[in-house]
Amino acid sequence: MELVVVGVGYVGLVSAACFAEMGFKVTCLDINSQKIAGLQQGVIPIYEPGLEELVRKNSQAHRLTFTTDYTCITSATVCFIAVDTPVGEGGQCDLKSVKACARSIGQTVSHPLVVATKSTVPCGTHALIQSIIQEELAKRKLKIQVDVVSNPEFLKEGAAVTDFMKPDRVIIGTDSERAEGIMRDIYHPFMLSSDRLIIMDPLSAELTKYAANTMLALRISYMNWLSGICDATGANILNVRAGIGSDKRIGSQFLWAGAGFGGSCFPKDILALRYMAEELEHPTHIIDALHTINSQQKQLIGKNILKRHKAGSTIAILGLSFKPDTDDMREAPSLVLIQQLIQAGMKVRLFDPVAMPHAQEIVGKNSQITFCESELEAAQGADAIALVTEWKQFRLLDWPAVVEAMNGRDFFDGRNQYRPEEMAKRGFNYFSIGRKPEFAHDDIDKVNQCKNELYSQSP
Ligand SMILES: NC(=O)c1ccc[n+]([C@@H]2O[C@H](COP(=O)([O-])OP(=O)(O)OC[C@H]3O[C@@H](n4cnc5c(N)ncnc54)[C@H](O)[C@@H]3O)[C@@H](O)[C@H]2O)c1
Repeated sequence: MELVVVGVGYVGLVSAACFAEMGFKVTCLDINSQKIAGLQQGVIPIYEPGLEELVRKNSQAHRLTFTTDYTCITSATVCFIAVDTPVGEGGQCDLKSVKACARSIGQTVSHPLVVATKSTVPCGTHALIQSIIQEELAKRKLKIQVDVVSNPEFLKEGAAVTDFMKPDRVIIGTDSERAEGIMRDIYHPFMLSSDRLIIMDPLSAELTKYAANTMLALRISYMNWLSGICDATGANILNVRAGIGSDKRIGSQFLWAGAGFGGSCFPKDILALRYMAEELEHPTHIIDALHTINSQQKQLIGKNILKRHKAGSTIAILGLSFKPDTDDMREAPSLVLIQQLIQAGMKVRLFDPVAMPHAQEIVGKNSQITFCESELEAAQGADAIALVTEWKQFRLLDWPAVVEAMNGRDFFDGRNQYRPEEMAKRGFNYFSIGRKPEFAHDDIDKVNQCKNELYSQSP
């Protein structure tokens, strides 16, 4: 069976590589000719663990090919749409790319085809795609059966290949028996251990994607909101998390307080759901609260830094991508922090294990910004360090070297990665989210005493 995946981004490339790995012949189609030329030469445009190997292996086996030409759909059974659906000016989902893609399909299709939408789209988009394709077919005076199916994608950047190969569930929204049968066949190889295919109507499938992302964002935001209560009372958000997460009805995932969420999905999907609700004259306050909490949370580290540091200070920022194991910088909390510090007249020294090229493109050149090649280089001469993205390699830094490199001793941990008492022993004034420090900040005698004890034990 031949498949076409339109849109070679995080979702499209991962989906295509995983389908090819299962033995399908897959063509990746994108209008970005530079991206396609690169992929034809083996250049992978994004960082995603395990992806490069899959793309290389399946390209060499001729199961995965790349093109800018829509005529490839003439030999396909299913054409997946995985193009971008960014946020529009009013917060709505911008369907420009989806519509253009549907039009191109309608202008090219020559035999019965299933069109499966992986892009995250509002309720009713399957009907819109169907009508655009039919309009183009009518212009060509052709009658061809095209079934448009909703197949929302739930992979997580940073674990996308694993998520795609072993999905928690696959949702197929369709009223067509023919399309359902074909989609079942395509996903069967991914479901050998147990059937996790959920078939439903297309409207519910489209809404399920927004419902899932908003639910996850709500859990994070609730913990962020609660962390403010912890800060004010002296309670510890990690203890509260352990306490509530052990309740089976609640579970412990997505209950980490931190510097706010970003990424290509949550922020835009929440706004799109809000827009949908508004159009339907359905109350939006739950999403308004979520949006406000997250915007405030993204500013929290910056506000804490500004309480202790002035114009001219140098702040090292560790972790720039919106989460670990990706180079995706879209809506990253680090961008808000950089902006706050630059506006306050501070200098920033930036480091991320893989997102430096993207960060340089987005942040641009500025005399207040230094792009660094390591954590230690970022710490050089810094008055404070802010950890924004919890890459694993930041868990165990060379602490004596970091302390030695720094000018000051403040450490702002936006992801609660360290134990306050240990950070104090290492010589830092340590500030985290929703956790009262073990030692009073600036109790320098106590900090020094602990530090001496720690380093006198070192060889
Ligand atoms: N990134 C994620 O983790 C994730 C997860 C689940 C769902 N989604 C959804 O999947 C969709 C794609 O997201 P992404 O992050 O992979 O996007 P992306 O921006 O990384 O990639 C989209 C690609 O589509 C191409 N494109 C645009 N218009 C086209 C057209 N008319 N014909 C052919 N190609 C076209 C672009 O050139 C680009 O390469 C979005 O709707 C997103 O909300 C994303």
